[in-house]
Amino acid sequence: MVKRVLITGASGFIGSHLVEEGLKRGYTVFAGIRKTSSRRYLSDSRIRFLELDLASPERLSEQLMQCKAEELRFDFIIHNAGITRAHNSAEFHRVNDRFTHTLTESLELTGMVPDKFVYISSLAAAGPGDPVSMRPITDDTPPHPIDSYGKSKLAAERFLESRSGFPYLIFRPTGVYGPRERDYLQVYRTINRGFEPYIGSTRQRISFLYISDLVRMLYEALNSPFVNKTWVVSDGCNYSVREFSELVKRILGKKTVSLVIPLPVVKLLALILESVTHPFGKIPILNREKAAIMGSMNWQCDPSGFFNDLHFTPAYTLEKGLEETICWNRENNRI
Ligand SMILES: NC(=O)c1ccc[n+]([C@@H]2O[C@H](COP(=O)([O-])OP(=O)(O)OC[C@H]3O[C@@H](n4cnc5c(N)ncnc54)[C@H](OP(=O)(O)O)[C@@H]3O)[C@@H](O)[C@H]2O)c1
Repeated sequence: MVKRVLITGASGFIGSHLVEEGLKRGYTVFAGIRKTSSRRYLSDSRIRFLELDLASPERLSEQLMQCKAEELRFDFIIHNAGITRAHNSAEFHRVNDRFTHTLTESLELTGMVPDKFVYISSLAAAGPGDPVSMRPITDDTPPHPIDSYGKSKLAAERFLESRSGFPYLIFRPTGVYGPRERDYLQVYRTINRGFEPYIGSTRQRISFLYISDLVRMLYEALNSPFVNKTWVVSDGCNYSVREFSELVKRILGKKTVSLVIPLPVVKLLALILESVTHPFGKIPILNREKAAIMGSMNWQCDPSGFFNDLHFTPAYTLEKGLEETICWNRENNRI
């Protein structure tokens, strides 16, 4: 019997890659989108679309009842819809936390609980690692998110953990990069223009995960015996911000002017940007919370829990992943 997987947030960067991987592995893939979602990366004719109203418990339950009436049961659900930018913490909580409640409760109410429900959380839910010991964040690090995004993701995790018998898996990916991604693209563009800015220090340590490895991890977890577990995931290596920039520079073939912007200056700039954009209802590219995240020295990650449980080895080094990503961005005239 062909397995069915429903992916929420299927139109986005991670979601669209999850859809492709599901099709490649022979699943029947249901792309959970909204009316306004772009289908730019969802052109495969095998994709089955489901417009889901995650904002309304009543409407969502009706939609799931309709699926049930059509004998459409999902073996797996990957709840990936979420926001990484918002006007305020209430918006983060509404989308990242409340929508998870709504989906979980509607699945329970309609008798549509899948065999596994994967929640795409974030390393931000764990919060940064200790800046003195510089020990990497592990599955067991006590969570202490420092921004509203991380707090909203942790709240959703806590909710899932509280549902007795609900077959969840929680992934906390570090920064994910690859084709179609837009935030790191700004860094490649800045370096391509000859600038190499650093926030606070060039010694900050960070981690990465290439999109192809993340989607492989997710499908392998679906097919594993594991349930009710939380994993932090990265490519298993940690880097200084300077090492990352050096790789990007080498791949782009650029020479740059390096500039370290002191953290208090970044925080002041964030405050100015917040007050300038607020009257227009725009979300600034930098705010005080983002500045705090960027200023945290330790975003190192130790994913050995996942690697050991699933006998997983990433296929991509940062260098290989960046080469592929920059090549894709060039081919698509983004750089
Ligand atoms: N990228 C990373 O480095 C990273 C790292 C860790 C965790 N994550 C998590 O991974 C997930 C996907 O992130 P991404 O980078 O792929 O972001 P993305 O490209 O912005 O995609 C977000 C997806 O969520 C959907 N979505 C947003 N608001 C929604 C709403 N109000 N109702 C229904 N759907 C909504 C979007 O639908 P529309 O197209 O209709 O807007 C889109 O499909 C998020 O939960 C994020 O927190 C990302």
